[in-house]
Amino acid sequence: MAKTIIVSNRLPISLRHRNGRFEFKPSAGGLATGLGSIYKSGENIWIGWPGNTVDDPEQRAEIILELHDLKMAPVFLSKEDVEQFYEGFSNETLWPAFHYFTQYMTYNAEHWEAYVRVNQKFCEAILKKADPDDTIWVHDYQLLLLPQMLREVLPNATIAFFQHIPFPSYEIIRMIPWRKQLLEGVCGADLIGFHTYDDMRHFMSAVGRITGLSSESGYIQADNRIINVDSFPMGIDYDKFAKQAKSKKTQSIVREFTKQVADQKLIITIDRLDYSKGIPQRIHAFNQLLKEHKELRGKVSMIMIVVPSRDKVQSYKELKEEIDLLVGRINSEYSTLNWVPVHYFYRSFPFEELSAFYNMSDIALVTPLRDGMNLVCKEYVASRTDQTGVLILSEMAGASKELQDAVLVNPNDQQGVVDAIYNALTMKPAEQKARISSMQESLKKYDIFQWVKVFLDRIEHVKEKQAELTSKDVDTKVLNEIEKSFKAAKNPVLFLDYDGTLTGFVANPNDAKPDAELKAIIKGLSQIAQVVIISGRDKDTLGTWFKGQQIDMIAEHGVWVKRKENKGDWELYAEVDDSWKDDIRSVMEYYVLRTPGAFIEEKHHSLVWHYRKVESGLGDLRMRELFSHLKYMARGHNLQVLEGNMVLEIKRPDINKGRAATALMKGSDYDFILAVGDDWTDEDTFKVMPKNAYTIRVGYAYTQANYNIKSVRQVRNLLGKLID
Ligand code: UDP
Ligand code: G6P
Repeated sequence: MAKTIIVSNRLPISLRHRNGRFEFKPSAGGLATGLGSIYKSGENIWIGWPGNTVDDPEQRAEIILELHDLKMAPVFLSKEDVEQFYEGFSNETLWPAFHYFTQYMTYNAEHWEAYVRVNQKFCEAILKKADPDDTIWVHDYQLLLLPQMLREVLPNATIAFFQHIPFPSYEIIRMIPWRKQLLEGVCGADLIGFHTYDDMRHFMSAVGRITGLSSESGYIQADNRIINVDSFPMGIDYDKFAKQAKSKKTQSIVREFTKQVADQKLIITIDRLDYSKGIPQRIHAFNQLLKEHKELRGKVSMIMIVVPSRDKVQSYKELKEEIDLLVGRINSEYSTLNWVPVHYFYRSFPFEELSAFYNMSDIALVTPLRDGMNLVCKEYVASRTDQTGVLILSEMAGASKELQDAVLVNPNDQQGVVDAIYNALTMKPAEQKARISSMQESLKKYDIFQWVKVFLDRIEHVKEKQAELTSKDVDTKVLNEIEKSFKAAKNPVLFLDYDGTLTGFVANPNDAKPDAELKAIIKGLSQIAQVVIISGRDKDTLGTWFKGQQIDMIAEHGVWVKRKENKGDWELYAEVDDSWKDDIRSVMEYYVLRTPGAFIEEKHHSLVWHYRKVESGLGDLRMRELFSHLKYMARGHNLQVLEGNMVLEIKRPDINKGRAATALMKGSDYDFILAVGDDWTDEDTFKVMPKNAYTIRVGYAYTQANYNIKSVRQVRNLLGKLID
């Protein structure tokens, strides 16, 4: 039976030394707690690091056996791996970069080498367990290289990747010396998921700029497959929290705890020790509240749980010292014999006690400076079974995109946070209920089980889409068939688009001249077949580039044609009415002035706005604006606006390559037809071709063509084969 292999750096349980032996305890962090509810079904298995170094082979064997029973398999890391891969590259380079804390980033080549080495270790561990039908689901920033490493060994495997932390803007990613390898590593997956749309958008933009792969509507076009990128906001095991909150055990802990704090209002905060969580800022805000509102002293306390994490990393050590100092200061300043402002715990708590804390607290104060999702805030809401309580939530947490009924704050705005706490303390029960119940509705619906289902369904969908495209791939069999039928033909014709088909794209369109290889191919073909270059290029350029070649040419998408027997003369294939151009040109010029690098190309039947040389992102933005502007104007002039490869073209709708190709074929009886092109203008050609024609689209995009082919190189190989 096919299984899902979950892979993350940390297993959901970690080894702890105790009295010379090892024992297991639950791991901290949202990834481990979130997926903890789902990995056990079927034959599934979780592969990861057990959180401690084990050198003794006998102990290792024992641990492997124990974990096997728990459906886990360990990847053991050496002390050096832990220092360089885990503390080093993962948590001193990637973690700060991805959370916008660039001041903590280190750039260390040894750490990078360890990162590659340990990703490889994970790859080997997976290969030992994986069967061909399995889905391998890799998690988080510690394993960014793993999808591609797996893909190289298992080209057809189903591989997914989910990132639990934010994905920052390109401006940050570009700072990392190994950025290209990291992005290419992730692109080994079939499906790449993030918590929010912003993370996904940042990722797509970085991939486009750094690897050069193009993407459209959430699909990246890799060399021989498409990769889907989407956002999947992670949920929690809602029922588990709701049930636990009502349980006798939790209720009795609540009674016991509340006895100690009498009738004070309680604010709960729970985080791993991490600078991304904004813990010092929160203590400052609470301090400010007590300063501004003297009446609250003795009446409100903060329960602050900080779970130890990465305490060997310098920035974490410093944070711990800072928190200790701030808590000491606030408590020493305000405490009385029967009241302390901050109850500070530097440890983790068992589930029932956490549930009790959620249950007894009037407010949850969740104010990370940056957080991929944040599950604590969701757990608080799920635990409020009586629908009282107020969630104050940072806008910088992924969860804020879903939990719009929380009191949203900017964690850097201290006064804003102080006011939010004050308002929460005085919020009417009816408003509390309205907010909490609406958030509960949504958390119940999009719980962790739904999240997993949606994600796994999506993988299936991507695999189906990929299969559709590969079934149309020009493989050796198709290649041989084309060659055979071409060689048997008496009257063959080839319609070849130029840019993106016979030659690659370059920054300046005038530099895309045919090279010696291409000239030789065209010459060779023209001696044995009718060759038609069918392009959007203007007639003068095509005329110059193919001077002396015995071929037909269709220029400007079918406005002009030059037959080889009509030496030198271009015929007008369509009536040209360009009375519309002045109006449209002036609009386009306005967008050229505002967009450095953009330019206008004028053709007989159309105007083209080019943005290939414009800063990426800005080009897209301006193109969208111009697109809607032109669409509005096009109606009045009966024109058509079309989006091409880094161009926006406005033209008469009745002129297209399909119409021109049909006219050219009229009266001839071809026994072999091949049409190759790479963009939407070629789709018009494909559409009009007779059923027995071979139509091929370059790149893995949806097409009316019968086949897809990978690249210009492959097109040239195919054409070369026909000449041999
Ligand atoms: N948590 C825990 N024990 C504790 C405190 C917290 O297991 O003593 C859990 C908490 O319930 C939550 C997770 O740790 O599920 C923290 O996840 P979150 O997404 O909020 O932050 P992360 O640590 O992943 O950055
Ligand atoms: C976050 C990360 C996880 C990580 C967890 C705990 O939730 O997304 O990948 O496991 O923090 O951090 P740690 O370094 O202890 O594994």
